[in-house]
Amino acid sequence: MWWQDAVVYQIYPRSFQDSDGDGVGDLRGITQRLDHLAYLGVDALWLSPIYPSPLADFGYDVSDYTGIDPQFGTMGDFDELVAAAHERGLRVLLDLVPCHTSIEHPWFREHPDRYIWSPVDGPPNNWVSAFGGPGVESRRGERPLVPALVLSRAAGPRTGATRKSSRRCRTSSASGSGRGVDGFRLDAIDRLVKDEQLRDDPPASRPFPLPLDPEAARLEMRYSGNRPEAIEALRALREAAGDALLVGELYRPVGEYERWLEVLDLVFAFEFLFSPWDAERLRAAIEPAAELRRAAWVMSNHDFDRLATRVGPENLRAAAVLLLTLPGTAFVYQGDELGLANGPGHEPPFDRAGRDRLRHPMQWDAHGGFTSGTPWLPLVDPEARNVADERADPGSLLNLYRSLIELRRELGAGFRLLDAEPGVVAFERDRHTVAVNTTAEPRPAPEGEPVLATHEGEGLPPHAALIVRN
Ligand code: GLC
Repeated sequence: MWWQDAVVYQIYPRSFQDSDGDGVGDLRGITQRLDHLAYLGVDALWLSPIYPSPLADFGYDVSDYTGIDPQFGTMGDFDELVAAAHERGLRVLLDLVPCHTSIEHPWFREHPDRYIWSPVDGPPNNWVSAFGGPGVESRRGERPLVPALVLSRAAGPRTGATRKSSRRCRTSSASGSGRGVDGFRLDAIDRLVKDEQLRDDPPASRPFPLPLDPEAARLEMRYSGNRPEAIEALRALREAAGDALLVGELYRPVGEYERWLEVLDLVFAFEFLFSPWDAERLRAAIEPAAELRRAAWVMSNHDFDRLATRVGPENLRAAAVLLLTLPGTAFVYQGDELGLANGPGHEPPFDRAGRDRLRHPMQWDAHGGFTSGTPWLPLVDPEARNVADERADPGSLLNLYRSLIELRRELGAGFRLLDAEPGVVAFERDRHTVAVNTTAEPRPAPEGEPVLATHEGEGLPPHAALIVRN
């Protein structure tokens, strides 16, 4: 399978490249910048949603699953982007959002029966929404921000629609019936099916390993989501998608991934994403995910703190080594390869959950290079870091990403975590050993011929990572 050791680059379309000066990124802009992805050497790109949307949740509230939002361009622009990506050997993943629609979706008017409603005034149960607050509260006829769809059976109307739209995107554009997309990231997939009887979630009996809204953390998600029926429902999608890559956004403990992997190819390794930059904690997150062989390594995205903010700028190079040498598929969020940190956000906020800080535009050169107009969110620090300068500097973080992506092709299929010095994460990939020093003190280097080092100096300097060949 092409995706097995692939590097997937996440594009946040509003913030990648604007081609028409309206300050918002678009599809033509992405096509113009594909050389950046080719330079990095990634295998695929994932586009966060590009469908028509009133932007109550920045595109994750879809009003038409078959169209392109005019701000992003036209279907013709999309076909051109897919063709241009394929010409460069880059696969294309779309974001599929099956759990809710926008209230502007025609179903909301025409098929209210396809949505979950409260039978009483106010919340009928203790469910907590992904953003905090009641999970269900609107009565039929009211207008929630992003209404949740009903799905309880594999044959329900919604899987039918999801199936059709995935097939349409998937089949080759050459046949005229599809658009040649190579896979899908499935949004919020643990919330796909909810209990028909709207039963209360029971109190949590143990701590949840991922950050949660405090209200949600007190409950175990048994009825508001995480339903076994979801896996059955996904079988239909699996079938329609054929061999397209399906990667699930499953916000669950890694111990639960296995059953979802019956129908999905990959599941994001969120415990790894949230692990503090501490060797013990990282090892604990890596071990079970690596055993599955199908966890997608990821360290940031459009929802959570940027990598530079999470691990600190001093650890960015070592984090790149770790992300790109673990066995299996890795996801890189646009801008992380430059070392972009969280930005200031926007006042008043665009995003209801405070995520503007993670979505500032790409920095192509010292002036920005993102738009000829006024960017929808300001650029953070283009003079300090940008693609043009980092390309020209052999020691830059960008060029480290590039070298790692090239080197990872030589790493074998093997993987074994090693006992290492305190504060060091070390593992073997067949003939290579990778050692990552998460501390501010020097540590001894692993034995072998150095092939890539993040820092100069003897041994394993503070915050450094080293790859040696044995
Ligand atoms: C996913 C998306 C996020 C969105 C949420 C609701 O977590 O990544 O951006 O807000 O789903 O669809």
